[in-house]
Amino acid sequence: MDKLNILLDSTLSALKKLTTLTTLSDLETKTIGRKGELTEILKTLKDLPEDQRKEFGQAANETKKTLETAFAEKRSELETIEMNKKLETETCDITEPGIKPKVGSVHPLSKVQWEVENIFSQMGFSIMDGPEIESEYYNFEGLNIPSYHPARDMQDTFFIDKQADEKHGRLVLRTHTSPVQVRTMQKYGAPLRIIVPGRVFRYEATDASHDTTFDQVEGLLVDKNISLAHLKGVLEEFLTRLFGKKVTVRFRPGYFPFVEPGLEVDFSCLLCEGKGCRVCKHSGWLEFMGAGMVHENVLKAGGIDPSVYQGWAFGFGLTRLVMMRYGIDDIRLLKSSDPRFLQQF
Ligand code: PHE
Repeated sequence: MDKLNILLDSTLSALKKLTTLTTLSDLETKTIGRKGELTEILKTLKDLPEDQRKEFGQAANETKKTLETAFAEKRSELETIEMNKKLETETCDITEPGIKPKVGSVHPLSKVQWEVENIFSQMGFSIMDGPEIESEYYNFEGLNIPSYHPARDMQDTFFIDKQADEKHGRLVLRTHTSPVQVRTMQKYGAPLRIIVPGRVFRYEATDASHDTTFDQVEGLLVDKNISLAHLKGVLEEFLTRLFGKKVTVRFRPGYFPFVEPGLEVDFSCLLCEGKGCRVCKHSGWLEFMGAGMVHENVLKAGGIDPSVYQGWAFGFGLTRLVMMRYGIDDIRLLKSSDPRFLQQF
């Protein structure tokens, strides 16, 4: 019993003087831990006469409980002190400015492409695409471009040293988006209203206005009783919505093997509105694209009966449109991935 009282008193007074959580844990282990002093004292229980064992056992339990409570109280007291100390020394300035994350931006080509897609979708056109690696057949023959046509020459076309298959000839990097005309006619038949934005490739010496890779948008409409008047209406509506101001369009004769009649399309200069300025070389008009009524042979290649259906097609340079829109004077910037250029959009 004396030993128990000594343990209790000495532990309580030692506990009072403690200032850290580690020394508290050490003292706890040493006294009421599994191999601690209290356990040692309890080992003497078996040496006591029967009638004293119960009393001793109860006293030992009391001591243990008292000490446990004392340890718990001291622990929470010390924890509070240590937490406060921590809060005093660790500072966090919530008024300090944050680190601005770098965010990307949409490429100007994609931006304008989406706008073009939106406007044509609203007019009932579907958005199509086709392979960038084409066969000679779809890039040329199907479009009524005979094998002696200069566009097939090595000066213009990247050929791939591989056959597509027996019927479709060699593989080429498509030189325009027009091959998707025949592909779509074969797949969906008439009537059709589509636009085809996509990359095209030409064997070209690169300078500020020429690149080997650029983007076009093809348009194709096939239906009954279709005329060039519909084309003019659709184009003026498209350009007026795109530029947010009234734009007019003019047709000039032009030649493309896959249209008859064929056209060059200009639109009124946005800067001088037709009066003539430096941008339009004092003509009042900006060259925009090739177009025309779809050639009979092209409709036939697409499996469409030219005696029932007519259509028109156009193709313009999306890249050039983007350059006009933003006043970009070097085509190579568009593929440069230069953040100084891209961050401006
Ligand atoms: N494919 C032609 C080009 O790349 C443009 C065009 C498309 C012309 C459709 C007429 C009809 O230049």
